[in-house]
Amino acid sequence: MPDTVKRIAILFSGRGSNMAAILTQLHHKELEVAVALTNNPEAEGIAIAKEAGIPCEIIDSNAYAQREVFDAAVVERLERYDPDLTVLAGFMRILTPVFTERIQAINLHPSLLPRHKGLRAIEKSYKDDFDEGGVTIHRVSSELDGGEIILQKPIPKKGVSFEDYTERVKWAEKEALVEAIRKNLTER
Ligand code: GRF
Repeated sequence: MPDTVKRIAILFSGRGSNMAAILTQLHHKELEVAVALTNNPEAEGIAIAKEAGIPCEIIDSNAYAQREVFDAAVVERLERYDPDLTVLAGFMRILTPVFTERIQAINLHPSLLPRHKGLRAIEKSYKDDFDEGGVTIHRVSSELDGGEIILQKPIPKKGVSFEDYTERVKWAEKEALVEAIRKNLTER
């Protein structure tokens, strides 16, 4: 482990397979995952965080009528752990400036941005006229999927079934996320 251990926070909403990849490849090897946080009390990823023995914060977004109030609760909770970087790994929320102006974060998106921002990006990428789809890691800004691009991984589509293409996207996401975290933390 490096002398000064960098600390990251991971935000997720669902299965947590990307979080699991970060825990396996980086946690207690190159950095420390200080906390995992979800907006979904039913998220399968909660079990992954608990099994890894890291704190898992649950802030139910359905309990908040206003986005800004939810974001303020997330920011307050994250700041208790003082992460060097926050990683959105399948965190299905549009964030407001309450979050984006206070938290340094990166996000994973399954298309070659700026193509196909928002939902169903894998399907839209597969169906468009480009030879390649792919994944993008970008900085989080208050524009949905609009922050500065950190890295991209193109994935050829020719002769590939939608199922295989989707599998390749899932692989590439994990590779790209680990690479982007390393890149981001070494640049600081
Ligand atoms: C990822 O495939 C990402 O593209 C999308 O949500 C999925 C999260 O997967 N935004 P998991 O929860 O990390 O398994």
